[in-house]
Amino acid sequence: MADSSASFTPRTRLLRALTGEPADRVPVWLMRQAGRYLPQYQAVRRQYDFLTLCKTPLAAAEVSIQPLEAIGSEAVIIFNDILLPLEHAGARIAFDERGPLISNPIAEPKDLAGLSEREVIQDEPVAGTIREVRRRIGPDWPILGFVGAPFTLAAYWVEGRMGRELAGIRKLRKSQPDFLLKLLDRITRAAIDYLRIQIEAGADAVQIFDTWGAILNVEDWARFSAPSIRMLINVAKSHGVPAILYIGGCEPYLDEVNRLYRETRASLCLSVDWRMELAAARERLDPGITVQGNLDPKTLLEGPSVAASAVAALFEKYPPRPGYIFNLGHGVLPATPVESARAVIEAVKRFGVYCS
Ligand code: CP3
Repeated sequence: MADSSASFTPRTRLLRALTGEPADRVPVWLMRQAGRYLPQYQAVRRQYDFLTLCKTPLAAAEVSIQPLEAIGSEAVIIFNDILLPLEHAGARIAFDERGPLISNPIAEPKDLAGLSEREVIQDEPVAGTIREVRRRIGPDWPILGFVGAPFTLAAYWVEGRMGRELAGIRKLRKSQPDFLLKLLDRITRAAIDYLRIQIEAGADAVQIFDTWGAILNVEDWARFSAPSIRMLINVAKSHGVPAILYIGGCEPYLDEVNRLYRETRASLCLSVDWRMELAAARERLDPGITVQGNLDPKTLLEGPSVAASAVAALFEKYPPRPGYIFNLGHGVLPATPVESARAVIEAVKRFGVYCS
């Protein structure tokens, strides 16, 4: 095995894992790897408010790249936010210390009536960020673009300020399902364009985040979330890049994920959250679907040695193999010690070698 690592770059290793092809070991990156737990991020963030940082390609590129050196990550996920496409659909977005706030929430058709859509142009800041990242890291490191699943984006827009109950979107789904579908169409148009320009600017793979899809029962997920996700997967497919789908609380939806795969025949990876065993997910998914995940991000709060042991324990239960990308089961938490994130990644590089 020793000399075979020379034949894979982080980019080919990740892309091969996403398409189920053999390489030397499991690749690794972490969701929300750029962010508040990193002092380097905080230093840049002090100079910009969050939205300005997302829209300033030079600064966003710098922050996107920080995790390569700071924690040894093997992929760059572009620094941006899932909510930005909502601005194109007519939402007014702000971020404060409590998180995102949308000042024109949608409760009924009249809330949408006067709002105009703003076209996603080829040269949006996110595209500039991707080109700048590529310029700085060269061809051997993979760049991941991302987009929110339109149902999750609709949930943020309807709530305005996200609460635990998501009462607004639940009510809209019951009382005005046709209007919700109309809202989803509008958001999907923006999301498709936002995804497409990232791929055209150089993203090697894209992740779709359906963080809140799991508030829907399976039948409703198939009706309100899956159709727009299918369109996003098809955008990736038509550009020849793999798609990774994250559903927070994915277990009830695995058959639906299989259905998406059978309908699209795209290169598809499921990012499994920490609530279920990877092996159980693998068992129920079609063999052509690859998997990513799923260490509980809270494990990292317990320090580097606990975190590294947890990686070893995960590989005990789920031995390293092609078709698998190591990640957390959700994003890095702001209180995470940097050394824990670094220890997790080192442990994957050490314990994640494929058995020959
Ligand atoms: O992963 C990365 O490092 C790339 C950048 C990225 C951010 N947000 C930066 C960010 C990504 C991929 C996201 C995705 C995102 N944003 C999701 C889906 C993933 C998930 O967690 O389920 C969601 C739901 C959002 C919406 C959002 N953005 C919330 C709820 C918040 C506030 C709470 C929090 O986690 O900070 C944000 C703000 C945000 N997005 C920050 C960062 C680094 C913190 C901003 C700050 O500096 O104050």
